Amino acid sequence: MIKIITVIGARPQIIKASAISRAIRNKYGSQISEIIIHTGQHYDESMSKVFFDELQLPKEDYNLQVGSASHGVQTAQMMIKLEEIFINEMPRAILLYGDTNSTLAAAVTAAKLHIPIIHVEGGVRSFNKKFPEEINRLICDHLSTLIFVPTLSGIENMRNEGFKIDTNLQVTSDAPGVYHCGDIMFDNSLFFGEAAERKILWLNNLNVKENEFALITMHRPSNVDDSKVLEELLKTFVRISDEQNLDFVFPVHPRTLKIIDTKISLQTRTALLKSKIRVIPPVSFVEMTLLEKKASIIFTDSGGVQKEAYYFKKPCVILLEETPWQELVESGSALLVGADPEKIMNGYSFLSGKKDLVFPPLFGDGKASEFICEKIIETMRT
Ligand code: UD1
Ligand code: UDP
Repeated sequence: MIKIITVIGARPQIIKASAISRAIRNKYGSQISEIIIHTGQHYDESMSKVFFDELQLPKEDYNLQVGSASHGVQTAQMMIKLEEIFINEMPRAILLYGDTNSTLAAAVTAAKLHIPIIHVEGGVRSFNKKFPEEINRLICDHLSTLIFVPTLSGIENMRNEGFKIDTNLQVTSDAPGVYHCGDIMFDNSLFFGEAAERKILWLNNLNVKENEFALITMHRPSNVDDSKVLEELLKTFVRISDEQNLDFVFPVHPRTLKIIDTKISLQTRTALLKSKIRVIPPVSFVEMTLLEKKASIIFTDSGGVQKEAYYFKKPCVILLEETPWQELVESGSALLVGADPEKIMNGYSFLSGKKDLVFPPLFGDGKASEFICEKIIETMRT
């Protein structure tokens, strides 16, 4: 039996982990056993527990309850607690997802204890170290023994950083195995797509019509931490909604809500409330999947939501200057507009008028989780 410890902490990681946990439960349970550690980076029920319940992820074995703090404090507190558990459990490997501080803390801790790291969603780069995620990804990839890369551009990034691809040699942290496997989030979107359709009453209660509303998500520090930037963004969405007579659904990340509640002018908050923008708390993954499937267009700075827009063949206005998912932009279905009101409005006009968008397959066949489990078994058996 291969004993692995999965470390998760932020919303998208809980969602990602459910794909591999499902594969282990359904197919590989006699070969892989999984212990789950939740760092507590995200802790609101709507940012954490809701996903365990809905996506049938087994309850975590450990919760470090680290909560919110500065990067240094948060990462350090995670490391202190992870080290003790890793030493006690001594797993064959640590399984990590994406690029959050939880990923970083677990990667550094495991590497110092010589425990192999499996990094799912490796190779992804935005080439901008101002984003904390870029630092976290770089460190995690360079400490890992198995790296699972969702896209071909990610494989190219790894090659450019000197990694050997698809090696059949014995893998070690100094000679890691790097594999192109597709995106486990695509596995999830396919798997939960039908369950989402069954929630149509929930959507009707929001009083929006299929293909006649836009979806917004925003949580990047560059967009929301500076209240002036956020205020301009909110005003821009109110303006589009008013001018186009367009309904919006805006599930608000707690980081963004905190700034809206404390730093946005009363005038803009009132305009938001009076507009056709439904400002709602964060939703569950199945609800989000339904919103993405039924929206006519998506505005987002989320890495995950950009890709999900593509899976469901929706145009996407990306509220960033660059994206680690450059292939979305190259496909013509997504535009990078940053936080510039003019570019956002032009982006909306351009994409909403396009009838010939194409969405060739870029993210695998929905079986990335199985590929990953099989590679883990093949390489970690001894
Ligand atoms: C984190 C990740 C980011 C990921 C995002 C997913 C890092 C550096 N950032 O960003 O890569 O895209 O998660 O959502 O790891 N808060 C709550 N309740 C919660 C969680 C957060 O109120 O359950 C608030 C707190 O005020 C906190 C703020 O949100 O200070 C930011 O949370 P944090 O986890 O530090 O960063 P995210 O912006 O969520
Ligand atoms: N998501 C969700 N509810 C929400 C907003 C997002 O379930 O209210 C899901 C979304 O479908 C995607 C993931 O959360 O699968 C993306 O997480 P987030 O935007 O927080 O982080 P990122 O992907 O940018 O790291």
